[in-house]
Amino acid sequence: MFIYRTESLELLRQRIDLVEVLSPHVELHKSGASYKACCPFHDEKTPSFMVQKGDSHYHCFGCGAHGDAIAFLMNYLKLDFVEAVESLAEKFGVVLEKEKEEELHRGTSKTVLRQALAHASRLYQFFLLHTEQGEEALRYLQNRSIDLDFMRTFQIGYSLPGALFHQAMQAQGVPDPILEEVGLLLQTSSGRSRDFFSDRIMFPICDPLGHVIGFSGRKFREETPGGKYVNSAETPLFKKSHVLFGLSYSRRSIAKKREAIIVEGQIDALRMIHSGFDYTVAGQGTAFGEGHVKELLHLGVVQVFLALDGDDAGRAAAIKIGDLFQKKGVGVKVVCLPQGKDPDSLLRQEGREGFAKLLDSAEEYLAYLFSERSKQFEMALPAGKNSCLQAIVEQVKGWDGALFVHESVRRLALLAKVPEEMLLALIGDTTPYVRRTSKLGTTQINLDQILERDLLRWLVLLGKTKESVVIKVLDVLTEELFKDPIAQKIFSLIAQSEAQDLLGLVLQLSLPEEKLFFAQMMEKKVNLQKAEAGLVESTNKLLQRDWSDKREALSAKMRSGALSEEEQLFLAKELSELKMPTFDITRQSG
Ligand code: UTP
Ligand code: MN
Repeated sequence: MFIYRTESLELLRQRIDLVEVLSPHVELHKSGASYKACCPFHDEKTPSFMVQKGDSHYHCFGCGAHGDAIAFLMNYLKLDFVEAVESLAEKFGVVLEKEKEEELHRGTSKTVLRQALAHASRLYQFFLLHTEQGEEALRYLQNRSIDLDFMRTFQIGYSLPGALFHQAMQAQGVPDPILEEVGLLLQTSSGRSRDFFSDRIMFPICDPLGHVIGFSGRKFREETPGGKYVNSAETPLFKKSHVLFGLSYSRRSIAKKREAIIVEGQIDALRMIHSGFDYTVAGQGTAFGEGHVKELLHLGVVQVFLALDGDDAGRAAAIKIGDLFQKKGVGVKVVCLPQGKDPDSLLRQEGREGFAKLLDSAEEYLAYLFSERSKQFEMALPAGKNSCLQAIVEQVKGWDGALFVHESVRRLALLAKVPEEMLLALIGDTTPYVRRTSKLGTTQINLDQILERDLLRWLVLLGKTKESVVIKVLDVLTEELFKDPIAQKIFSLIAQSEAQDLLGLVLQLSLPEEKLFFAQMMEKKVNLQKAEAGLVESTNKLLQRDWSDKREALSAKMRSGALSEEEQLFLAKELSELKMPTFDITRQSG
């Protein structure tokens, strides 16, 4: 994806003459200071499609169609965003410059940090392949069947001990404070500095677009101090709770297949990708958590395969990670690796076919959960089986969607060979899930979507100017308040962006469903005059939806009958303290 320089996008914005863009497609008639036409977006006989002279937006008073030149080309000619931008640039003679290198040297913007890391990565690769000291590291890698192609593909390197790394970085014009900021240089107490990584095999950690954002260094000598793997520190670029190792190589396939394989180790991930399972990722040193799940949801993943190490820790992790995905309605299958194996060793011994076989016979999460939980209870005794099933149903109740929960419980009944109704009774008709199916059903889902789209549309259209309502709204909302993962992503893009920029925003939506979501969102007829009021209203609705979800969950819990008196009292207090939130622009938030 191209990142255009803001300057050229701004220039384009100034040059665009909307009337000229519309003329070939719409028959515009001048009337006073404006142009009128029959709206191309709905059927009409008297013109209500208007453009004010000099304005960059069109507006239809009939159907509410509203937008700028880009919106018109996207909606009318069905161009995608980049096509629209590029065709406008051509029409109005604007050369769209890509982000330039010199730009990146000012301040410690993320780009500066990125550049320093890219230099470091190239240096480490050089040390591995072209220095004498690197030879032992090379031998270690070759013993692990990591060949040159593997090393080149994943830019594996070596952190040469001594002063050379530091000197070479200085020679490249990377100042010490930047090297410290990206975690590659440490100040010692004696006031000197030393390399953070020394004598380790270096694996670059990349963001989804392939920029290096950190490193993981593996030791290959017993005597090297520190853990087996050491990761560079968190920086504004590198957030361990969100980074998926390998994603820059597997992102495309994951988005296309909407499936992902999750492994524990970094080398596992690289070996998998190198062997053709190019939709694999690993967590990043820390445990796989909700942040990682969210990243995959943003890619549209609907099914994951957990291929964790064949040991107790791996099996426990499969239960935990699987639950995180099931909670979000993503299907999970567990690949059972033989005891003591991990994907790397399995692929080396049994090849691609060996792993493919395991993948084919992966077990659905629920069956896996049942068989693992069964080991913890005395299933031959009625009490044991009862406790086991209750524990599982309790977990399943936390998954996303009434139907999903219902069907999962039915499936569990089949696996456990007990009558369906008995287990369904355990969900209880007091849980929010069952109540939702009977009362709300699909309309609820649509209302949720409509609300989220409305809110985002107002945010986009109003823009993030100083003191604007948008700023106040962004103050009170969080990503978690949105249910749709694409809505979450768009919201977080808006929240993170420094200035509201439609061009910039859309450039960050690369998946077809994201583009579609955005396009549909922007298609809706709106009356810009009512934008502020609309935004306030949608904000309130979203806050109140969350409030009522929380209340519903609390009261369902109270009615479940499974609580002690003390817990009941505690929840009752919590419930009474849960005040309906209201958002009011005249008041300060917070
Ligand atoms: P493993 O110990 O299973 O690593 O830890 P691995 O990938 O199989 O490593 P090799 O094959 O021995 O080289 C799994 C993951 O846990 C993190 C790393 O991300 C590793 O890939 N880890 C492990 C650390 O961050 N630090 C450690 O000291 C060990
Ligand atoms: Mn391992």
